[in-house]
Amino acid sequence: MEAVKTENLVKVYHGKETVEALRGVSLSVKKGELFTLLGPNGAGKTTFLRIISTQLLPTSGEAYVLGFNVLDEAEKVREHIAVVPQDVATYGNFTPWEYCYYFSLLRGMAKQKVKEVSERALKAVELWELRNRTCATLSGGERKRAIIAAALASDAEVLMLDEPTSGLDAVARRKVWSVLREMVEQGKTILLTTHIMEEAEMVSDRLAIINKGQLVAQGTVEEIKSLAEEKFRVVVEGSPNLLEKFANNYSSVSFGSKRVIYVNSGDEAIELVRKALKSGLKAEAAPITLEDVFVKLVGGVELNEH
Ligand SMILES: Nc1ncnc2c1ncn2[C@@H]1O[C@H](COP(=O)(O)OP(=O)(O)OP(=O)(O)O)[C@@H](O)[C@H]1O
Ligand SMILES: [Mg+2]
Repeated sequence: MEAVKTENLVKVYHGKETVEALRGVSLSVKKGELFTLLGPNGAGKTTFLRIISTQLLPTSGEAYVLGFNVLDEAEKVREHIAVVPQDVATYGNFTPWEYCYYFSLLRGMAKQKVKEVSERALKAVELWELRNRTCATLSGGERKRAIIAAALASDAEVLMLDEPTSGLDAVARRKVWSVLREMVEQGKTILLTTHIMEEAEMVSDRLAIINKGQLVAQGTVEEIKSLAEEKFRVVVEGSPNLLEKFANNYSSVSFGSKRVIYVNSGDEAIELVRKALKSGLKAEAAPITLEDVFVKLVGGVELNEH
């Protein structure tokens, strides 16, 4: 049985304008994996997470968490999940310690265990020193980490985190990645959303790319990368004249004074670097990144207008 499974999930918001936020999303998250929903602003990530965490009703389609239907068995679903929303509104008078402690206590954990898991979670996100400060006196990133700690301290089987690292600095972000990986090694299932490619590439066992309410691809990082024909990227840099002359022979993407040229094989990449160096340019070859593939996939998506 999958940790999360959706079939043809549709969400239409009826406000002043009608917005089709999800246009038939079918995906499955296996138990014990870290699954990332990757997509740009407005793609539908939060909408998806709110539906599967029973906070929002779908317009049509089906969604299950650990086999429980989010509509008919919402209570059961809630027993098994912990959620970190995108915009955390913390209670200013609560301390990080109280967040972890009471949230776990409310879930029915024994007091001694609650103390242990709270301590471990707060140390994991490096909030232990700040555990007795009220949230009103903490920075935005510290508050976010307090909520992440509360989710980590819960005994929930499935953790759902909506952009858990947004607003965190590079060090805190890496710390959260490694904590999440540890949780997965211990058997938890994690579903998170992000628009940061590096994050998706670093932490995911599998991921889905979502754009304008539609799934564009689903699989491991390697599987998704294999969707692009080109396997290597060569970055060339130099004076505009030289660059223009050189890159015109290839299809390339320009970023200021740099051009990225995509090629199919390592041999082609090396050959290209050699030629570029000979022409007096700087050049560097590397395997394509998830970001390269993302731009190709999302840039080329055709949506049926309704
Ligand atoms: N309550 C609402 N009423 C109307 N439209 C909404 C509502 N909430 C979201 N939308 C629209 O639905 C689409 C998907 O929004 P959603 O918040 O799910 O995106 P997201 O992928 O989480 O984006 P972000 O990366 O910015 O958090 C957007 O076009 C958004 O404007
Ligand atoms: Mg969102």
